[in-house]
Amino acid sequence: MADFKNIGIVGAGSMGIGIAQIASTAGCSVLLYDNNSAAAEKSLNSLDKVLFRLVEKGKITSIKKEEILANIQIINSLEKLNKVELVIEAVIENEGIKQSLFKNLETIVSSSCVLASNTSSLSITALGSSLSDPTRFIGIHFFNPAPVMPLVEIIPALQSDTNLAIKIKKLMLKWHKTPVIAKDTPGFIVNRVVRPFYSEALRIYEEQIADFSTIDYAMKEIGGFKMGPFELMDFIGNDVNYAVTESVFKSFYYDPKYKPSIIQKQYAAAGWLGRKSSKGYYDYSNSTVKVDKEDQILLNQIFERILVLLINDAVEAFYLGVASKEDIDLAVMKGVNYPKGLIQWGEEKTFSWVMNTLDDLYEKYHEDRYRCSKLVRDWAKKN
Ligand SMILES: NC(=O)c1ccc[n+]([C@@H]2O[C@H](COP(=O)([O-])OP(=O)(O)OC[C@H]3O[C@@H](n4cnc5c(N)ncnc54)[C@H](O)[C@@H]3O)[C@@H](O)[C@H]2O)c1
Repeated sequence: MADFKNIGIVGAGSMGIGIAQIASTAGCSVLLYDNNSAAAEKSLNSLDKVLFRLVEKGKITSIKKEEILANIQIINSLEKLNKVELVIEAVIENEGIKQSLFKNLETIVSSSCVLASNTSSLSITALGSSLSDPTRFIGIHFFNPAPVMPLVEIIPALQSDTNLAIKIKKLMLKWHKTPVIAKDTPGFIVNRVVRPFYSEALRIYEEQIADFSTIDYAMKEIGGFKMGPFELMDFIGNDVNYAVTESVFKSFYYDPKYKPSIIQKQYAAAGWLGRKSSKGYYDYSNSTVKVDKEDQILLNQIFERILVLLINDAVEAFYLGVASKEDIDLAVMKGVNYPKGLIQWGEEKTFSWVMNTLDDLYEKYHEDRYRCSKLVRDWAKKN
């Protein structure tokens, strides 16, 4: 059985270099390819600086730093990947480009080499279909920044060998990651179940119930989230976050539950992308973020309205077999730093509360975004 000591990484952008760092830190030899060789060199230089800071902070020794760098070799042709046991692709998010890359890779690597994609939004099954042997294909989805965020979603394609996910799970544990296994469905686990964190916050703002800083304050102070929805959207980038929302909406055949917000589209269109453009929902150019401390009843209403939708979507994902309860809860804690697993949160608040709160919202709005999962109802009855 492959021990996955020799790894190939294709695409040396922010994700590719992060994955290279993880693999080389775990002692693997990494061959790193980018079709823009200057980009690969630039990434390796920035890794050198990242590792230097880790040495300064006492997190790694300078010997370890040199080992990590020595384990990574930039290659200038894909043909050099002929002896690796696993290739992880992290190139631009484009189905056609990824598929032709995998087709090409298949002619280079050995017949036992595992081929994997780090895609955030494309179907693993559709990418795998470009191969003549798709049984060796799988999704290995890291979170940004990859060396910092523990979560890795492992997504078998419909055609993947049945044992492949377990093999990759073992490897991710060796790489000191927290692996979860997800069904190949839009958004996998995290990018699916976290949608209401953004969409319901935007909706509350759109209804003029509260401003950005009040909504953020409610989620942080009452919910214990590290960042509020608007701070987080500004951090991710409104363009990137909007694109993910739109992609999930389309992939679910326009289920109104996942409908993107016009407000976010407008912010992206205005170039108010967030921190990277110095302006998003907040203005980062001059002052610190203003925080309103509104009355407790309003703050609590905001928090509960967003939380109840998150819990509902997490339960629905479990109901539809996207992942186990444990993996869904781990995914949000280790991939997006939620203070608690959403299904566990539902248990604590009780599923009767989840059902009644959703039914009240549905009664008021008659919109699909508030439809309660069948499993929430079943669990509420059991309570
Ligand atoms: N950035 C994130 O937050 C994040 C998180 C998880 C997964 N992802 C996924 O990871 C992948 C890469 O994202 P990123 O943010 O690192 O992008 P990036 O733009 O930083 O890097 C992509 C790199 O791929 C290279 N590239 C493009 N086409 C190529 C080809 N045909 N062959 C070789 N190299 C090629 C580019 O030169 C670039 O260096 C995408 O599929 C993305 O969806 C991104």
